[in-house]
Amino acid sequence: MKRIAFYLLGLLFTVSSSFAQNPDPKYPNMDSFVKELMAKMTIEEKIGQLNLITPGGGIPTGEAVSTDVEGKIKAGNVGGIFGVYGPELVRKAQELAVKQTRLGIPMLFGSDVIHGYKTTFPIPLGLSASWDMELIKKVAEVAAVEATADGIFWNFSPMVDIAFDPRWGRVAEGAGEDPYLGAQVARAMVNGYQGNDLADPRTMMATVKHFALYGAAEAGRDYNTVDMSRNRMFNVYFPPFKAAIDADVGSIMSSFNDVEGIPATGNKWLLTDVLRERWGFDGFVVSDYTSVNEMIAHGLGDLQQVSAMSLKAGLDMDMVGEGFLTTLPKSLEEGEVTEEDINKACRRVLEAKYKLGLFDDPFRYVDEARPEKDILSDEHRAVAREVAARTFVLLKNENQVLPLNKSGTIALVGPLANNKNNMLGTWAPTGDPQLSVPILEGVKNLAGTESDVVYAKGSNISDDPEFAEKVNVFGTRIDIDDRSPEEMLEEAMTAAEKADVIVAVVGEASEMSGESGSMSNLSLLEPQKKLLRRLKETGKPLVLVLMAARPMTIEEEMELADAILLTWHPGVEAGNAIADVLFGDYNPSGKLTMTFPRNVGQIPIYYAHRTTGRPNEGDVFQKFRSNYLDVPNSPLYPFGYGLSYTTFEYSDVKLNKREFSAGGTLTASVTVTNTGKYDGHEVVQMYIHDMVAGITRPVKELKGFQKIFLEAGESRAINFKITEDDLKFYNYYLEYLAEPGEFEVFIGTNSEDVKQAQFSFR
Ligand code: BGC
Repeated sequence: MKRIAFYLLGLLFTVSSSFAQNPDPKYPNMDSFVKELMAKMTIEEKIGQLNLITPGGGIPTGEAVSTDVEGKIKAGNVGGIFGVYGPELVRKAQELAVKQTRLGIPMLFGSDVIHGYKTTFPIPLGLSASWDMELIKKVAEVAAVEATADGIFWNFSPMVDIAFDPRWGRVAEGAGEDPYLGAQVARAMVNGYQGNDLADPRTMMATVKHFALYGAAEAGRDYNTVDMSRNRMFNVYFPPFKAAIDADVGSIMSSFNDVEGIPATGNKWLLTDVLRERWGFDGFVVSDYTSVNEMIAHGLGDLQQVSAMSLKAGLDMDMVGEGFLTTLPKSLEEGEVTEEDINKACRRVLEAKYKLGLFDDPFRYVDEARPEKDILSDEHRAVAREVAARTFVLLKNENQVLPLNKSGTIALVGPLANNKNNMLGTWAPTGDPQLSVPILEGVKNLAGTESDVVYAKGSNISDDPEFAEKVNVFGTRIDIDDRSPEEMLEEAMTAAEKADVIVAVVGEASEMSGESGSMSNLSLLEPQKKLLRRLKETGKPLVLVLMAARPMTIEEEMELADAILLTWHPGVEAGNAIADVLFGDYNPSGKLTMTFPRNVGQIPIYYAHRTTGRPNEGDVFQKFRSNYLDVPNSPLYPFGYGLSYTTFEYSDVKLNKREFSAGGTLTASVTVTNTGKYDGHEVVQMYIHDMVAGITRPVKELKGFQKIFLEAGESRAINFKITEDDLKFYNYYLEYLAEPGEFEVFIGTNSEDVKQAQFSFR
């Protein structure tokens, strides 16, 4: 009776009643709708909503793939499904849920759309190197348009795991080492995927993952143990998640690793105390692939125990492992979980479906006419080309070897120079490598009639068949040529001898990174090193196009090459985008978002390290100071580093005052001048150092950046407003506040090359 009265009131006074019944004013009738639906549901049907399955159409990353998918859907045992693509299949599957189950509750259709759907963009680490949030948002928008055209409306992206360890293959999927930048990228991607209206058939629900600390796996080995202070979690690893939640992300994926000894998937402190109570997250939490079941191997109990533990911890949906489906009824009977525990999770899943508009129209994302129009359109490919060019990082350019002239002879060599299989990069399960533009094609397209391009493969990525087999799980990424390595080298030398300039395209195969793609050696593999050493013997200018999905240890290559252009794995428009930059049609502007170490022994190496009691100064060895005998402390390339074909000069930092207090602002400014011959983009970076605080603080933290465009010769004053918020951090007691005192502000072109000023906060 009371409910009916409320409902009627709700119809009359939508706004006021929405506040009475439902905390979310965006969805005034959601609460009553979901309550009514749940009132009709059996406990089995509720548990069914918590079950996420895959028929294996995607890439199974765990041991299990779901069986009897159709039977389970019809039995009301499925809340969501992933790995089913295309309107026809999605319609068929959705019909099973809508027409053949008792209550007709539609399913979620999910997928990993990590860097584009069919129009594949650069790997996420590359995207972050653009430092261009509008661009990143656009990438997510295009991905959403294409995925929804194919019936997918729930995305397992963005991955926002902070990582300092390039041995971990999944650094490719994230935005690098910095929490501030990571938070901006997280927000841009969530906004891009979700748009303003989740029910819009061209937007999809995002999932921020992997909560939490997955990027801190010990020794960079995937799925490995993690252990760290809560202070570090809050200050460094959590900010991108918090930003995604503030941007209203629909769901969160728990991570595989343990957090203080309890796997994230069953960690109540993480999933309830932090996520729900501290941050007020009101979406749903999905496990990672069989991560509930993996708690058995972690040593936390049998399937029934770990499933109950996960539900009670705050996990709402179980990916593929079916621990919830098969054991929660028994746990309920035995009093290990309550009906309210199940209701809570079920409610959150149903709310997501409500927000996506599925109860109005379960087929709103099914439109057979859309794929043709919306997927891989010329317009999307053009965006992919533009975006890719903006992610490339120029690491070296001696004697202005780049840009290349569109005349003379170019020797294009290397195992990645005419290779479609590795352009998309890791974790592009919906992309088609065969649609990508190889570098040879892109360079030939742009070289014009005045220049000659001669090609030779020169070497394999690796000559080791055992290694190749491990990398080739999703198709041939490393192909070992029938010819001997010597023969290939000779062919490359013949090409090089004829040329005015050599462009060598070398690096990693796309599956040398990504999930389960950890590496202990971050150098170029030996056959490629040999190729470069031989090419160097010609004395010709040597340009390296380096395809990598992580920081690599390339000290030797830095000596050998005159120029190095880091292109990540650039996506479907690889060849065109690389040609654009090689010939100077676009002036490179990418900046590193992860530090490049000199050698693996320096790892973890990152710019925002805290001070030790015995810091060493400069790169000179000092006894009884924090340094190494055999390598300097400095990295090969610092965070934020990246050159341009032009040069930028920075004035000293000017402050509009020396001091400010809560509620006030201070403006730090520099004048940046393009002193070179080319127009170009520059990423102006602002860092802050809290000089005295209650806990040790990083030597520098990124707190602002602006990507600007300056014509040759142009100058511009760039202002950064600093407020109390920029000085806040989590203190020893995990209170988020700014402590009064002295601060340094640094502004510059990368995290090392900066101008400094000092101010106080009172
Ligand atoms: C990965 C997730 C991914 C899931 C589904 C897991 O192995 O860790 O990032 O979303 O598989 O494909």
